[in-house]
Amino acid sequence: MKNDLKQELPTLDEAKSLLKDGQRLSPGPWVDHSINVGKAAMLIAEKCKDINPDTALVLGMLHDIGYRYGHVDIKHILYGYNFAMEKGYDKLARICLTHSFNCHDIRASLGNWDCFSREEYDFVDGYIKTEEYDDYDKLIQLCDTLALPSGFCLIEKRMVDVVLRHGMNEHIIDKWKATFETKKYFEEKMGASIYSVLPKVIENTFEL
Ligand SMILES: [Fe+2]
Repeated sequence: MKNDLKQELPTLDEAKSLLKDGQRLSPGPWVDHSINVGKAAMLIAEKCKDINPDTALVLGMLHDIGYRYGHVDIKHILYGYNFAMEKGYDKLARICLTHSFNCHDIRASLGNWDCFSREEYDFVDGYIKTEEYDDYDKLIQLCDTLALPSGFCLIEKRMVDVVLRHGMNEHIIDKWKATFETKKYFEEKMGASIYSVLPKVIENTFEL
């Protein structure tokens, strides 16, 4: 496996086994969603000269690995971070935290923060505000918005779906704007629409 961040990442076989383990511990649609985030990240990366598709695949597959501890809402980001750090996968740990915050603002998350201690909340808040995102952070943030457990769909459809399920807050528009900026960023790198490399977007979006 070609992997430019090997020391910070599981191999593809390890990623598959971690996901399988996660499914056994905490079955749910998050597993198929994660597989599809990985696939989308790999397909987009293959069209960009400076992003490693294998790295993108592994990071996408494991970005939600915090759900192995149960259906824990937004707390999965911290569980995932701690799990990956304990294994020495620093790059993955980072993705577990950054994937939900594309505009560096913790308030743009619709999750329920009641389950965080003050220290935990401050840690995530500080991390999100100060870290500069690299292409892998941005790529997984983008793919998280277009991958359903059943496949890939139009970003706008998933945005509305999330708001219908979790409600709206005043910071969501910033998050949406950041998503479209990220989409444009990768499309300029690819020289093509992201949808041109994602199979069955039309079928999934329109439920054909
Ligand atoms: Fe996700």
